[in-house]
Amino acid sequence: MRPRTYLGGNLSGPHMRSLARRRFLSGLAATAGTLAVAPRSISAGRVQLGPVDAAPDDAYDALVKLANNENNYGPPESVIKAMTQAFKYANRYGYPDGDLRNVLAEHHAVKPEQILLAAGSGEILDVACSAFLQDSKKIVGADPSYSILYSHATGLKSDTIKIPLLADYRQDIPAMIRATRANYRDVGFVYLCNPNNPTGRLVTTQEVRQLLDGIPADVPVLIDEAYHHFVDDPSYSTSVPYVTEGRQVIIARTFSKIAALAGMRLGYAVANRDLLQSMRNHMTGSVNAVVRWGGVAALKDTASQQWVKTKTIELRTRAMRDLASLGNDTIPSDANFFMVHLKRPVQPVIEAFRKRGVLVGRPFPPMMEHLRVSVGTADDMQRFAAVFRELMA
Ligand SMILES: Cc1ncc(COP(=O)(O)O)c(C=O)c1O
Repeated sequence: MRPRTYLGGNLSGPHMRSLARRRFLSGLAATAGTLAVAPRSISAGRVQLGPVDAAPDDAYDALVKLANNENNYGPPESVIKAMTQAFKYANRYGYPDGDLRNVLAEHHAVKPEQILLAAGSGEILDVACSAFLQDSKKIVGADPSYSILYSHATGLKSDTIKIPLLADYRQDIPAMIRATRANYRDVGFVYLCNPNNPTGRLVTTQEVRQLLDGIPADVPVLIDEAYHHFVDDPSYSTSVPYVTEGRQVIIARTFSKIAALAGMRLGYAVANRDLLQSMRNHMTGSVNAVVRWGGVAALKDTASQQWVKTKTIELRTRAMRDLASLGNDTIPSDANFFMVHLKRPVQPVIEAFRKRGVLVGRPFPPMMEHLRVSVGTADDMQRFAAVFRELMA
């Protein structure tokens, strides 16, 4: 349950003149509006905020959101509480931040200088492009994969050497190695999304090693572990230890998925100092005070993460079994989404779902008959199943 009351900063300082106080309060009200709360009263020098009546987002709230691989449970109590308390730093440039970088370094058993914080792992991917695709360098990566990265590269006038997936939708590691070696001088970095979005298929520990050993040692490899926390397969492991080994790898992680903080924007990279230094030059420094504390709390709340993981796997397994019983194949997934083969063009089906209030994934060329479905709550999945039956009957 989200708390309905938020406590603001201490307003009783000697320099708080009444005009400044009014300005501060209206600013706080605007900020609070995004949290659907508004000032209610001031007591003992603190602002109490309560729910706003005008709720312009009812239509959005009513949608079943299975399009963006979000965490539909929302952040756990522990994280909401930490972020609520951190709101008192909303007016600061410098503030305690729960020591997030050190906490992450400890979590991964690396040095603090091997961690780079960002406004979502999307920012890490963007700055990797800006840093490593100078002089028309190219990305080598699977297709389809997290194509926003490839679009970003295109925006920088850079190309991607796209390696088609194998027949079982796994990434073709030997082909990635061949393409990297053949284009060695032109490759800015290799992108490995593990597990891959949109298929949900993982790259095994052994395959990651094969890739790293098979390409020239100085080609950076950006390993995107956005869905790491949902994997339950012993053939997979995180690639963070390669950082300690001194390899040219950058691991991208996010708090958007398992920790349900997509709207708050927090991600980070784990890599060696020189790689991070090249990337840091392109950062905006836009991680906010509130989510830093949310991140620290999320890392501590392993029970909540385990709960989300277990529930997601249970609901994913059930949904895929139900689809199989209707005659629709699904691709094995190790993430909080899966793909189902519709055996018909996906675009009209996506639109039909939308008309019925259910948002599902966009098309992922060249897989134009596959629908990507994020795993939501049990209620979300029931709505999805009901619409699927109606549309596919
Ligand atoms: C594979 C992958 N990487 C990165 C991201 C970016 O996530 P964020 O910027 O919210 O951390 C996403 C978001 O869906 C994703 O699927």
